[in-house]
Amino acid sequence: MWKPPEKIRFEPQPGRWPDSGEAQASRLFSPIRLGPQQASTIEMASRSWVPAMVPWRASEDGFVTSDVLDWYRRFAEGRPGAIVVEATGIRDIPSGPLMRIGDDRFIAGLSELVDTVREASGGKTRLFIQLIDFLAIRRRPDPQVYFDRYLEITERHRSALGGELDEAEIRARLKAMSEDELAGVLSRREMESLRLGYRERVTDMDLPQIRDLPEQLPGLFAGAARRAKRAGFDGVELHYAHAYTMASFLSPLNTRPDGYGGQREKRVRLPLEVFEAVRAEVGEDFAVGCRFLSEEIFEGGGTIEDACYFAQRFAEAGMDFLSLSRGGKFEDAKQPSVGAAIYPYTGRSGYECMPGHISDEKGPFGRNIGPASRIRAAIGKAGFKTPVVVAGGVHGFDQAEAILQKGEADIVALARQSLADPDWFAKVRAGRGREVRVCEYTNYCEGLDQKHKQVTCQLWDRLDLDEPGIKLAAEGKRRMVAPAWKRSGGD
Ligand SMILES: Cc1cc2nc3c(=O)[nH]c(=O)nc-3n(C[C@H](O)[C@H](O)[C@H](O)COP(=O)(O)O)c2cc1C
Ligand code: SF4
Repeated sequence: MWKPPEKIRFEPQPGRWPDSGEAQASRLFSPIRLGPQQASTIEMASRSWVPAMVPWRASEDGFVTSDVLDWYRRFAEGRPGAIVVEATGIRDIPSGPLMRIGDDRFIAGLSELVDTVREASGGKTRLFIQLIDFLAIRRRPDPQVYFDRYLEITERHRSALGGELDEAEIRARLKAMSEDELAGVLSRREMESLRLGYRERVTDMDLPQIRDLPEQLPGLFAGAARRAKRAGFDGVELHYAHAYTMASFLSPLNTRPDGYGGQREKRVRLPLEVFEAVRAEVGEDFAVGCRFLSEEIFEGGGTIEDACYFAQRFAEAGMDFLSLSRGGKFEDAKQPSVGAAIYPYTGRSGYECMPGHISDEKGPFGRNIGPASRIRAAIGKAGFKTPVVVAGGVHGFDQAEAILQKGEADIVALARQSLADPDWFAKVRAGRGREVRVCEYTNYCEGLDQKHKQVTCQLWDRLDLDEPGIKLAAEGKRRMVAPAWKRSGGD
């Protein structure tokens, strides 16, 4: 992963822990209603949130497995205000072990997941599911294979190489060229496919499946939301963040000429149409919100001003919550090795999304708070109170409470801290914060995610491996869920 050049090492700073009286009187543990005026029927018992995290536990064909149930049961035991189930694919197409919701056959498993979380949280935790669409992406090819099989030879190549050559000769010549020489013959996209692997863009209007996205996506998202409602979820989070299709529509890189690209007003059009289709399908008594980026964090990418505008439009349209992330883009990702796929969390924008303990003078804790606060103010200025959820390096009670007290956000999300200790919420509420296993922000978990390996935390995955009945990860060395909270005596 990319690290800031300053390379300053940070220790976690959880600060002071409250006693149970203070915790229970806190804003963090106070309820909040969702909706543009915070008046929806959906209420959360506290303002804490476990954001979406893919743990790579679904089956190869996208079904909920017993490992998925165990994973979310463990989070539910901590009783956060809400859990957002990992990014789940809305299409009925093979997507490896990514969870899927693109057909009714997935409902039974998802329904079991809902029951598991309800039971383990005593009904105290709201359960949402993140709905994702993504475009085609291929692994970085072996150059020989790329020139033999993938590259489509065109007149452009022929004339760049001096005319008259047949296809086999052109391929042979290209194979023998250096990268610098190739840059003079191949187009930018062809160079990119060779160096990074082929990747579709929302601007590839020559591809029918891309041209038709505005026709297809509202129905696909609405169908997925209908299934989520049938499975018993409290709501859905539309994934408009990071490197995926909907974020690409919002990005300034979206120059589509069909009314869905160009100025902000046009870039936000499909995300709004998707929301409207979803709302029409599921009605008002089901939460529909989205996750989007406060900033894209690459040259020419989306800015905080863009995000403020989008937030106002989403609030005005009636979204129930707005969850903010930042970065996590392909545009500045590292070149993958041959045979691997590009991963959107390896560049600077990836660092901003999941800031690690090696940082710059700003440090890894709360880098999204300032932008979230500006976005929340913009929503307020437009006359809405849509709850804003902020994530990024939050691990202490005082830090979370201050965000809420200062009105920087309405709900605080803890991703890696919840992974390090799913009981964070229960421990802090009980006045036992000192028993929290504090995240060190080493990004070991994120490294596992990058390799599509079952995600665990280095602070607990080797503990009590002889405990009866525990499940181990595929390679047999790591436990799959955090050990149970063994309450110490005392107060
Ligand atoms: C293993 C892992 C998987 C993640 N998967 C998702 C995901 O499916 N959807 C999403 O929006 N964010 C995902 N994220 C990003 C987190 O939700 C969160 O925004 C980020 O980790 C920063 O919050 P934190 O500092 O509290 O960890 C993932 C993060 C991790 C560590
Ligand atoms: S592996 Fe554990 S300690 Fe390290 S960043 Fe992930 S959750 Fe935090």
